[in-house]
Amino acid sequence: MCGIVGVLGNHEAAPLLVEALKRLEYRGYDSAGIATVNSGALGRRRAVGKLVNLSDLLVHEPLAGKSGIGHTRWATHGAPNVVNAHPHRAGPVAVVHNGIIENFRELREELAATGIDFVTETDTETVALMTQRYVQEGLAPADAALKTLSRLEGAFALAFLFEGEDDLIVAARKGSPLAIGHGDGEMFVGSDAIALAPLTDRITYLEEGDSAVLTRTSLVIRDANGQLANRGIKKIEIDQTRVDKGGHKHFMAKEIAEQPTVLGEAIRNYLSSDGTAISLPGDALDFTKINRLTMVACGTAFYACLTAKYWFEQLANMPVEVDVASEFRYREPPVTEGTVALFVSQSGETADTLAALRYCEGKADKILSVVNVPESSIARESDIAFPILAGTEIGVASTKAFTCQLTVLLLLALEAAKQRGTLDDARFAELLKNLSALPGLVNIALDGEPQMAAAARKLAEARDILFLGRGVMYPLALEGALKLKEISYIHAEAYASGELKHGPIALIDKHVPVVVLAPRDSLFDKTVSNMQEVMARAGKVLLVSDRAGLDEGGDGTWLTLQMPSVDPVLSPILYAVPAQLLAYHTAIAKGTDVDQPRNLAKSVTVE
Ligand code: F6R
Repeated sequence: MCGIVGVLGNHEAAPLLVEALKRLEYRGYDSAGIATVNSGALGRRRAVGKLVNLSDLLVHEPLAGKSGIGHTRWATHGAPNVVNAHPHRAGPVAVVHNGIIENFRELREELAATGIDFVTETDTETVALMTQRYVQEGLAPADAALKTLSRLEGAFALAFLFEGEDDLIVAARKGSPLAIGHGDGEMFVGSDAIALAPLTDRITYLEEGDSAVLTRTSLVIRDANGQLANRGIKKIEIDQTRVDKGGHKHFMAKEIAEQPTVLGEAIRNYLSSDGTAISLPGDALDFTKINRLTMVACGTAFYACLTAKYWFEQLANMPVEVDVASEFRYREPPVTEGTVALFVSQSGETADTLAALRYCEGKADKILSVVNVPESSIARESDIAFPILAGTEIGVASTKAFTCQLTVLLLLALEAAKQRGTLDDARFAELLKNLSALPGLVNIALDGEPQMAAAARKLAEARDILFLGRGVMYPLALEGALKLKEISYIHAEAYASGELKHGPIALIDKHVPVVVLAPRDSLFDKTVSNMQEVMARAGKVLLVSDRAGLDEGGDGTWLTLQMPSVDPVLSPILYAVPAQLLAYHTAIAKGTDVDQPRNLAKSVTVE
């Protein structure tokens, strides 16, 4: 949700800011802007739409200066136009902001009462104006920014730049991540370390409530209580910061193709070297003492939790509750004794999931998380964080993070089953063996891409599409529909196959394709019956199944996609591939922006 960057450098700042923003564009792409200080003079450039528009503007209207701040926006307050684009400026102050200032209306009224006019609809302008007021009252720029910060409520990351101050940036973090980069006689600010990767690999992560005053040679951090704080410097591994498309047309295509590799890495990370035992990081986790597992997440990560519910219940006989974070956090659910809370998040920064985690602090026996970004807030605030090792995911639509989340959740469910004695040794060993072989099957599924692309070209003609799945495939149907609607903008819904006749079947006619995700498992025959009900009403069924499934259920279907046979427990991980590739190729056929679909952003750090 918005990316921010700051540079106190020894070279021209504008190209560095634009390059860093390129790496942050996944956080929002409604508008972009930069401000610099050049021999004391503050200037700025802003453009609506993708970053390329700002780059073009800078060709015609360059901006000199070795100090600067930049922003790529996902609009919250105010339409995505130039006036509302960051940096916001009030006299000698320029500000970039990620998040929401919740009390901006009160602050605005206070400023308005002193005769100050507003030109934007944003909450950020209030921050710039308040800081300007404190400067006018005689405070030094850094003190004015710090005083403003003390008055702000909400979740935000901010960076301030000042006229007349070539060697000063003030930055703050409350609810939205912020990293400080250390160069040689240079200092940087970024929403994440990836943005700063070409500039430095030495990073200080600000903690909740921290403010930082930066010059080229100094960094002074104060904690939420205003006390000086030392946050240390971490060296970031280059691997974590690679963000190229690797020869693929889109990040999403690259990330789908990477799945055999990253799944293999995730599996190896959690298995003993002979592949016969599971080894978990952190303190020992005693699953026999858990009365209830509460899993909370958003979007795709929520569907990973929904899938894992089937695994924990069926394999480990463990009561499981799953909820979307935005509901869970305000519902005031009782968290009773023996409850372990587990939060799943690719970014580890999703505002609702983080708030849900904080709600459980002091109530749940343990806070666990399954995350992709090990330095994230959710990881750091958990008792045990289980990394999914998917590597950087740039495509806004989550793909490899989803299958890696599923893999780690399955490993946790298997460990729970082992400890609770609910799975016999032979089946446990068989499942570990089959899991180790899964990356190979994912590779075979990826070989079916041409057939999936051909089917997608037909789906692209539809206005509405239904996805059906039963049992552990039901959450995957939900994920398939989500993936399709996010990037192709075709309306898609998913239902548990058995639910169809309770209402949604009224939608079926010859214009509505129905994608049925149905491996040949114990529920297959029931799904075939539901498919027949669709076909009897002229519905067009696209059946995704293995050979046996196609032979037995394929009659009368519109299209079929063949999958390799797989242990039924593992099928949601394998069948994620056709769900992803159908969405990807439908979007290609529709000509939409696959990696940066409209209205979306990768990291949702606002409610
Ligand atoms: C969909 C997608 C989103 C995220 C959701 C949670 O493709 O990516 O639905 O899954 O915003 O994000 P994280 O996992 O970062 O908490």
